[in-house]
Amino acid sequence: MSAVFSPVTTQSFDIQVLDAPLGATISGLDLSQEVTPDDFRRIHQAHLDHHLLIFRDQRITPDQQVAFSGRFGALQIHVLNQFQLPGHPEIMIISNIKENGQPIGLGDAGHFWHSDLSYVEKPSLGSMLHAQELPAEGGDTLFANMHLAWDTLPTYLRSQVEDLQAEHSYLAQYAELQRRSPWRPNLTAEQVAQVKPVLQPVVRTHPETGRKALFVSEHFTTRIDGLPEDESRDLLQQLFDHSVKPEHVYRHQWQPHDMIFWDNRSLMHLAAGCPDHLRRKLYRTTIEGDVPF
Ligand code: SIN
Repeated sequence: MSAVFSPVTTQSFDIQVLDAPLGATISGLDLSQEVTPDDFRRIHQAHLDHHLLIFRDQRITPDQQVAFSGRFGALQIHVLNQFQLPGHPEIMIISNIKENGQPIGLGDAGHFWHSDLSYVEKPSLGSMLHAQELPAEGGDTLFANMHLAWDTLPTYLRSQVEDLQAEHSYLAQYAELQRRSPWRPNLTAEQVAQVKPVLQPVVRTHPETGRKALFVSEHFTTRIDGLPEDESRDLLQQLFDHSVKPEHVYRHQWQPHDMIFWDNRSLMHLAAGCPDHLRRKLYRTTIEGDVPF
């Protein structure tokens, strides 16, 4: 598979920082053209500085999304392989649409706060989500700045959690999601074997910027290693509540053809959902990161 791009020329694009705890909009950049090394360096730096980049009005093909994502690292294949875009295993379809009674994608992705693939040894560095069909109402995606969450954590909590590890499991909320919605298929034994729980640091250091961030989520973190169950539950709840305080959160209201790219080492995200009868479809790629430390 190879993406077809126009000839390489530097593009003059603007980076506008959002009036929010994270995020910047990039305008004037066309991702259907190959991005030059200089433009790529600017984008990469903006991603590190602002953690979420919003590329407006991108008319890109799945091949072009895969090729641009691949500039940042190896792409990950999601365990729910039934929701891959045919011919593009690196693209997961996020959608509430059913065709012939069958879901074409994962309709309840992101219904709990999380950082993508924190339940594998090398969680996602970043994720790209490209809007294909948007509902007239709802469907927003929220992002929480986990560096800010760490920076503003009360001192007594910081010293309590700084050196702890926590278990992350893909299966933590799976039964609950199956109970709530029709989107979650039963997993095969092979799929379950792919998602064995892992231990991750509760506070991680960003491998490129050196900034610390809280790294626990209500979706995937099941317990703090070495603590009694009630203490672990109580501490995790305090960390979850603090992380998603309104002053740490940006709410993305999608525009047609938006492509967004966030840093999972800095942010958690949540899909706000939309009425069932309104169609929503996005294509997601995830880029493998480092082992958190
Ligand atoms: C996700 O968690 O990757 C999906 C986010 C969304 O659908 O808004």
